[in-house]
Amino acid sequence: MVSTGISSPVKGFLLLAVSLGLAGRTTELWFTGHGYNLTISQGHGAKLNCSLEGMEEPEILWLKDGGVVQSADQMYIPIDEDHWISFLSLKNVERPDAGRYWCEAEDNGKKAVSSDIWIMVEGVPYFILEPKDLAVFPNASFNMSCAAVGPPEPLAIIWWMGEPPISMKPDHSPSVLIVPGIHQDTAFLCEAHNEKGVSSSRTAIVKIKG
Ligand SMILES: *[C@@H]1O[C@H](CO)[C@@H](O)[C@H](O)[C@H]1NC(C)=O
Ligand SMILES: *[C@@H]1O[C@H](CO)[C@@H](O)[C@H](O)[C@H]1NC(C)=O
Ligand SMILES: *[C@@H]1O[C@H](CO)[C@@H](O)[C@H](O)[C@H]1NC(C)=O
Ligand SMILES: *[C@@H]1O[C@H](CO)[C@@H](O)[C@H](O)[C@H]1NC(C)=O
Repeated sequence: MVSTGISSPVKGFLLLAVSLGLAGRTTELWFTGHGYNLTISQGHGAKLNCSLEGMEEPEILWLKDGGVVQSADQMYIPIDEDHWISFLSLKNVERPDAGRYWCEAEDNGKKAVSSDIWIMVEGVPYFILEPKDLAVFPNASFNMSCAAVGPPEPLAIIWWMGEPPISMKPDHSPSVLIVPGIHQDTAFLCEAHNEKGVSSSRTAIVKIKG
């Protein structure tokens, strides 16, 4: 927490003075507060807020990456008759919830836009490419591919091959396993490791042709 040492009524007055000075109007509408970045672990919740001054009974909209947030988990409460705080609750955060959030409000054609709040979602690696089933000729070379992303970024990709599975030396993502050739149907899967844990890909079966 950073404290400027200026009490909020004084700060409010300074902001008012600044906006009056810039716009030369007698009434203004503005959001207070800085933008910030928030990192949330997958499955956890977060409560975002934005603080609007200069309007009675506002309608405060939450936006994410350009679209209006439809979640019902929003409410706004008055601090003063023309000072409101709007809250947006995110529960059970998943990767698609990551992005840029902000507030907008409008009064008689005047529009206020808040600073951005960036949400980052951390969790176990997420596969963007998984090994595919194949049919190959005996002893013919082929490749298996696998890629995973964070955040936090995957530290290692480990391939498992055969039954019982044996592991290959760790690689990074994206990883291409060059298999010189097989003589029987063989299972492949890859594991992605990061600070949050381990994810396993699907199991791909490589069959011998003919
Ligand atoms: C927040 O994250 C965004 C996107 O990753 C980045 O562009 C921005 O610089 C970050 N801002 C701060 C204050 O860290
Ligand atoms: C709004 O969010 C900021 C950043 O998370 C927090 O510091 C502040 O206490 C919140 N304000 C309210 C009224 O909850
Ligand atoms: C497999 O291929 C390699 C090189 O392509 C060859 O030297 C070897 O004899 C082959 N082995 C079998 C069992 O076909
Ligand atoms: C396998 O990958 C290597 C290196 O990425 C590439 O040179 C080679 O052509 C690939 N082989 C096949 C059969 O796709």
